[in-house]
Amino acid sequence: MANSTAFDKERAKAFTNQVLGDMAGTVAMHLCVIGDRLGLFKDLVDNGPADASTFATRNQIDERYALEWLEALAAAGYLEFDLASSQFALPAEHARPLSEDTHPLYQGNLQNLLAYSFAPLEKLTEAFRNGGGVAQSNFPPDFYDTMQRSSGLRYENFLLDMWLPDMPDVVAMLERGVDVADVGCGQGTALALMAKAFPKSQFWGYDAFAPQIEGAAANASARGVGSNARFEILDASGELPRDFDIIFTFDVIHDMARPREGLANIRRHLKPGGIYVLQEITAADERHENRGPVATIKYGMSLTYCMTTSLANHGEGLGTLGMSEKVTRELCLEAGFGEVRKLPCSNDFTSLFEVSQ
Ligand SMILES: C[S@@+](CC[C@H](N)C(=O)[O-])C[C@H]1O[C@@H](n2cnc3c(N)ncnc32)[C@H](O)[C@@H]1O
Repeated sequence: MANSTAFDKERAKAFTNQVLGDMAGTVAMHLCVIGDRLGLFKDLVDNGPADASTFATRNQIDERYALEWLEALAAAGYLEFDLASSQFALPAEHARPLSEDTHPLYQGNLQNLLAYSFAPLEKLTEAFRNGGGVAQSNFPPDFYDTMQRSSGLRYENFLLDMWLPDMPDVVAMLERGVDVADVGCGQGTALALMAKAFPKSQFWGYDAFAPQIEGAAANASARGVGSNARFEILDASGELPRDFDIIFTFDVIHDMARPREGLANIRRHLKPGGIYVLQEITAADERHENRGPVATIKYGMSLTYCMTTSLANHGEGLGTLGMSEKVTRELCLEAGFGEVRKLPCSNDFTSLFEVSQ
C-alpha cells in the first residue's frame, strides 16, 4: 500500500519507465495491425530482408511510410537493422507471433481485436460518466471479423484434436448423429468445423446479433459446410426453439446480459441425457489473483466489449474475467445442472467444462 511519508524515488523512476514501455507496446501493437492488414510481415518472411525502397516496391506502399514503419519496429526490437546494407529483417523467432496466421502462437488477431475494441472510445467514456454500456452495433465490422479470426484460430487448432477428445461421450453422440446447438455462435467457425467432421449430426447456430449470423452463414458457405448446419438470429435469454442432445457455448455466458436465464434455458432445452459444453475465458477465483499482462489484456477486452455490451442491454455485466471456475460451478448449479466437470485441456487462456443434468 502507498505510504505518503516514504516516497521511493527509485520506485517512481522504475514505474515511469514501465509506463513508457507500455506506451511503446501500444505503438508497436498498432503498427503491427497495419503490417498485418498490408501483409508486411509475410513479405519479410517470404522475400527476406529489404531496404525501405525495395520493401516499398515489393509491397506497393509509399516509400516514406515504409521507412518510418520499418524504423519504428526496429526501434521496438521487432525487426533487425543491418547498417552495412540498410536492410531490415524479421528474425525467424519473431515470425510466428507476427506472420504465421494459422499457428496458435500468432498474436495478430488479438492485436487487431484490441485495437478495434477501442473504436467507440467516446461512447465508452460516456458510459463511465453516466453508466449504461456501449451496444454491439457501435463496433466496426473489422472488430467482428477479427473476433472470428481470433476464436477461429483456436477452434482450428484445438477443438477437434484436443478439446473433443477430452469428452468421449460427446464425441460418441456426435458420431452417432444427434441435434446440436451452438448458442452465441458468433461467425460460427466452431460449428462449421463440427458440422463437417460429424455429418450425421444436425447443427443449429444461434446468435442475438444479426451481423454475426450473416457472417456465420458466409463463413460456413466459404468452408463448404453441408446442409446439416443452419444459423438463426436468437436471443438465448428467451426460449430456444427446440430441444438438443448437446449444447455448446464458446465464450458466451460472461457476455450475456442475463447469463442466469441463459443457463436455465440451456438446461431446460437439453433432451434427457443431454450434455452442455461450456467454454469460458480462464479467470482466477479471486479477483485480486488476476494480475500481470494477460489479465490486463483480458480486463481491457472486458471494459471495452464484454462487460460493456452486457451493460448496454441492462445486463449483469459479468465481464471477461467473470466466469471463474467457482462462479461457473455456482451458476450452473443455480440453473439446475447436476455435475460440472472441468476438462484437462483447460489452460491459462481457455477453460472448458462438461456439464450434465
Ligand atoms: C465473444 S462472442 C463469441 C462468439 C463465438 N462463440 C466465438 O467463439 O467466436 C459472444 C457472442 O455471444 C453472442 N451473445 C451474447 N448474448 C447473447 C444472447 N443473449 N443470445 C444469443 N447470443 C448472444 C454475441 O452476439 C457474440 O456473438
